[in-house]
Parts: sequence; C-alpha cells; structure tokens
Amino acid sequence: MTVPFLSLARLNEPLLADFQARLAPFLAAGRFIGGEALDAFERAFAAHCGVGHAVGTGNGLDALELALRALDIGPGDEVIVPAHTFVATWLAVTRVGATPVGVDVRPGCATLDPDLIEAAIGPRTRAIMPVHLYGTTADMARILPIARRHGLRVIEDAAQAHGHVRFGRRAGAHGDVGCFSFYPGKNLGALGDAGGVVTDDPALAARIRMLGNYGSAAKYHHELCGSNSRLDPIQALFLDLKLERLDAINARRAAIAAAYDAVVPARDDGRAFHRLLEPGLDGVWHQYVLVCRDRDDLVARLDAAGIGTLVHYPVIPADQPCYAALKRPAGTWPVAEDLARRVLSLPIGEYLEAHEIEQVREALRAAL
Ligand SMILES: Cc1ncc(COP(=O)(O)O)c(C=O)c1O
Repeated sequence: MTVPFLSLARLNEPLLADFQARLAPFLAAGRFIGGEALDAFERAFAAHCGVGHAVGTGNGLDALELALRALDIGPGDEVIVPAHTFVATWLAVTRVGATPVGVDVRPGCATLDPDLIEAAIGPRTRAIMPVHLYGTTADMARILPIARRHGLRVIEDAAQAHGHVRFGRRAGAHGDVGCFSFYPGKNLGALGDAGGVVTDDPALAARIRMLGNYGSAAKYHHELCGSNSRLDPIQALFLDLKLERLDAINARRAAIAAAYDAVVPARDDGRAFHRLLEPGLDGVWHQYVLVCRDRDDLVARLDAAGIGTLVHYPVIPADQPCYAALKRPAGTWPVAEDLARRVLSLPIGEYLEAHEIEQVREALRAAL
C-alpha cells in the first residue's frame, strides 16, 4: 500500500454530491462571469476572514500583483519579501516592475524574521509582504508596528494559511490587504486556478476589482489599464461549499499533524529529522514540514516504505535562474538557504485514514 503525497480526487470526493446538486441550477442560470455564485462566495469569504470586502481573482499570483498595482507600487519601488517562499511572492513584485528585497526567515517557522526587517528598509521601500508559509501566520504583532513606524503598506501572502487565527484575526485580515490562492491543493482549494484578496478598505477593494476587470467598473468604460483576472463563478460555487467545511478540514489536518508529532522529534536532537515548527506556532497545516539531516536519504527511505513526499521549496527565489540579476553570495540568507536544503513535507490531506497515518508514522519511526 502506498500513501501518495496528495490525492486531489480524494480531497474533493466528500464535496462532489453537494457540488453536483448546486451545479444544475448554476448551469441553467447561465451566468458564467460574475453573478450570484461569485457574489455569494465573496460575501462568505469576507465574513469568514472578518473583513469588509473580498474580491475574487484568477489565481493567487494575480491576487498579489493586483494588490501591489492597486497600491501604486511599481518601478523604482522596493518590497520586502521573505527569502524562503514560493516564487510567486517574488514574481508579483517583479511583474509590477518593483524590486523584491529578500529578508531571512526564522528557523522555527520559516516566516519573515521581524528582527531583520528594519535593516532592509530604505528610502524606496513601499511595502512588506509577509508570507504565512506552510499555514502558520507570520509574526504580525511585530511586523505591523514596524510597517506603521516606517509608513509602509502590508500585503499578506496568505496563499497557504486559509482560516488560520493568530493574534485574534484570520490570516489575510491583519494588513492592508490579504492575498489568497485557491489552487486545488490548498486547504481551501478550487477545481482549477483561482484566487482572491480581502481588505477592510472599500476603495482598495474597488480598485482591485477594477484592475482585474480590464480597468473597468462600467462595461466598455476603462479608467485604468487593467488585466483580465476574475474568479470564475463555477469555482466560486465550489469554494463556497468548501468554505463551509474549512474549519473542520483544518481541524482534521491538525489531528493528523498531532499524530505525526507523537513520533517526530520536536527539536533537533541529533537524529535524522525534526519538526520545523517551534511549539506554540501550529498553523492550519497546509504542509507538515520536517527539517532533515540528510534529505535525499530520508526521501529514499520513505519512498521505499510507500510514502510520497514533496519539497517546498528546494531552491529559494533569489537562486532561481529567472532571478540571476538578484543573486547574492551564499550565506546572505542563512536560514532560508539551509531550509531549502533540508525541508521535506509529509502527506497531510484531510482524507487520510488511520491506517495510512499509521503507515507514515511507522516509516518515520524506522527512519529515525
Ligand atoms: C505562498 C504562495 N504565494 C502565492 C501563490 C500563488 O498562487 P497561484 O498558484 O494560485 O497563482 C502560492 C501558490 O501556488 C503560494 O503558495
């Protein structure tokens, strides 16, 4: 028996009967751009996040890019981003013509290290873009006051932290604007590409909506040079259904994480691997991440035991060929560089059955 890293079919299977029931009237109504299905999801997602407005976008990268554009961040501006993240965080910044300024992450959570942010702020800095990587919200209690002191905007990349509550708020609801991906494998995943932003600022929400709709608020009148990046209502229909179950999904993932925690060393004690997250920093478990002594060896052992794994992410954005111009000497971001060599994600889909979780635990015990 194998435990694949992720099965999208099994992830969505419990939702399909309800989705099919909602699909027939949706198809009959014939609104395939905008319309009630989209409005309903945007209202529900804003309410879930505890903010005034949600705007659907085509995907998470566009959500980040539209947020930056709506805040007039562009050529000549700098944006502080974590050195360790999915490349989309950096791509959004370069797509608007601004420069990403990498700041190292903290070892026990892989999110922006607040102690290092101020040294990276210069006269051109316009915004900080924390990423709530792997499902744990970054240290917003420290990041927000730094941003306020320096007059900077805060754009949260909450693409991996749907529903996480830390510092009394949901992920995405801390800064000026929160950006989400609903890529199928996310905790709140759609049936294809999808994304969205949330904000309490009605003018910002309206501007993002306009930018993603050809720069237009009224049909065939174009105030801004926008793009076409709208959330498909058929995806919104599915997401609305899944949102109702998000807290339960996250709770189930936390239960699986707790089962892994029982066999994974909580800190580096010299054995083959340990848990990335420091105690007290549990998020919504988009990934359950190990830090390995010898990753290739552990991958091979788990693979031999039928356990699928994935690396998020093996190369930091600044070391990607597309960012050759931003490359810095090795050691510039020691924690990020070390994590890229050593992190490994285990299967954590909420559908995993007890015997599969046990199979993973058994393989982990043997590998220790
Ligand atoms: C941290 C992070 N930011 C941005 C994105 C981009 O989202 P998308 O793939 O929907 O464009 C993703 C997911 O893929 C992500 O994990």
